[in-house]
Order: sequence, then structure tokens, then C-alpha cells
Amino acid sequence: MIYLNGEFMPIEQARIPVLDRGFIFGDGVYEVVPVYSRHPFRLAEHLRRLQDSLNSIKLVNPHDDPTWMRLIQHLVELNEPEDQSLYIQITRGPAKRDHAFPKQITPTVFLMSNPLTTPPQQQVSEGVPAITAVDNRWLRCDIKAIALLPNVLLRQLAVDAGCAETILIRENEFMTEGAASNIFVVKKGILLAPPKDNLMLPGITYDVVLELAAANNIPHEVRRIAASEVFVADELLLTSSTKEVLAITRLDGKPVGTGKPGAMFARLHKLYQDFKLNVMRTS
Ligand code: PDD
Repeated sequence: MIYLNGEFMPIEQARIPVLDRGFIFGDGVYEVVPVYSRHPFRLAEHLRRLQDSLNSIKLVNPHDDPTWMRLIQHLVELNEPEDQSLYIQITRGPAKRDHAFPKQITPTVFLMSNPLTTPPQQQVSEGVPAITAVDNRWLRCDIKAIALLPNVLLRQLAVDAGCAETILIRENEFMTEGAASNIFVVKKGILLAPPKDNLMLPGITYDVVLELAAANNIPHEVRRIAASEVFVADELLLTSSTKEVLAITRLDGKPVGTGKPGAMFARLHKLYQDFKLNVMRTS
């Protein structure tokens, strides 16, 4: 079951007008919320980021947080799996094609649930291969915009190379994030994270990992990470709501560190899993 503009229905019945600005211009924003044992994880934080994205594109939030929470909880109940990946999309709605905002806006609000497929055990224990590519996206990568063509093309480079992710390098100088994930570098026992600025998506999982590092006395620094540091990293980690925390063990065909998931990965992965279970037990 999905939710579209006030109604819950099977996805086969869902229809939107072809002039929807999401379809015509990619004029909209989205969120992906992982749901564990029917509990949406970090929902308040996802809703805050959704609000930030809406503010950035000057679209009024169609619902307050309690309404979002009710809609989301209901959709979770209507779907089978215990663990779900909840997708929220809001567009500027249907209007005659013109780049400028229409005077009257009826936003399109769409929610769907898919089974949450976290990485298979083999990827967790072996890590995944990644490639690097030039970050050729725009300068507002902090907005969770549905217009994802650059990310789509960049992610496909990884798939074509038999890899799991593309790590993005800006101006030949510094690392921003992955095509659909945030990236951490580990060097000499220190966890390095790029700063949340306009050049990366402020990941919810990224925040959790940094909170866990702080709470567990894991040395960490948030600062710009030079491309050169990525290539000599002891470990590389990837985070996202659906991939959780994964080790990148090969980069551009060469082993990262020992070529096996390292001690920092093992620690953070365990902390993340424990934290998840704890949150579910107490929510
Ligand atoms: N993507 N950076 C980019 C470009 C992303 O698309 C994502 C997530 C992240 C990680 O953010 P979070 O930890 O909040 O999931 C970083 C989602 C999962 C997607 O588009 O499917």
C-alpha cells in the first residue's frame, strides 16, 4: 500500500498528472526512512531534514510533524514487512509548464514502503569495492532533491565497474560523499568526516555514527578531507539509511589498508547495531 494526496491505496491504483512539476522539472524533495520492527528510525531527524529541504526549495510543508508521524505509522501498519524502507516525496504539484513557480500550488505528497534490504552478511564481513569520480553535481547537494540525474550517472559508473559505490572528489582536491551515501576516512585510529556544508547531504546515519564516536571516546575529526588522504586511508566507511555502516575494502581496484574491514569498522558497525536495537526496545 502507498499514500498519495490524502488516500491510502495499492500502488497499481496510484496516478499523478503528467504535468506534475516533479515529472517535468524534478521540482521536489524526498526522504528515505528506515523502519526496524515497525519503528521508524530517527524519524524526528528525517522530518527536520525534510523541512530544511522544503525551506530550501521554498515549498510550504503540507503537514505538521504529528500529521507526518500519523501518516507514516499508518502506512507502516498497512505493509507486511517488519523492516521497511519508507520513501516520502513532495513535489510542487501539477501546473502548466513554466519554470517559475505557479501562483496556486497543490503539492503532490507521495509515501511508499518497500521491504528494507540491509547489506547481505558477505558485504558486512568482506566489505565492498568502490571507485572514485569527479563530483560534477551542483552546489546545493545539501538539499535532498528528487532531481538525481548526476547521482544516477555517478552511481552507474560504480555498477558498470562491478563496484558498490562511487566516492566523489570535488575540484580534484577534496572528498565530499558517495553518489548515494556519506563517506568516512580512517587514518591512524582517527575517524575523519567531511563537514556538513552545501556540497554534501547531511546524512542521518552520518550523524548517528559521529554521535556514537563521541559517546564512545573514538577519536574523530570533522574537517575537509583531501583526495590524497582518501587514497592512503587505513579504512574507508560508507553510511546510509539503507546500507547502515559498510566498509569499503577496495578503491579503484586497489586494496584499502589491509583490504579487509578494519578495527574502526568493526567497532562502529557493532555500536550502530546495538544502538538500533536499543532505540527499538525503548521506543
Ligand atoms: N540516500 N548522500 C547522498 C547523496 C544520499 O543519497 C544519501 C542517502 C546519503 C546518506 O544519508 P542518510 O544517512 O540520511 O540515508 C548521503 C538514500 C538512502 C537514497 O537516496 O535512497
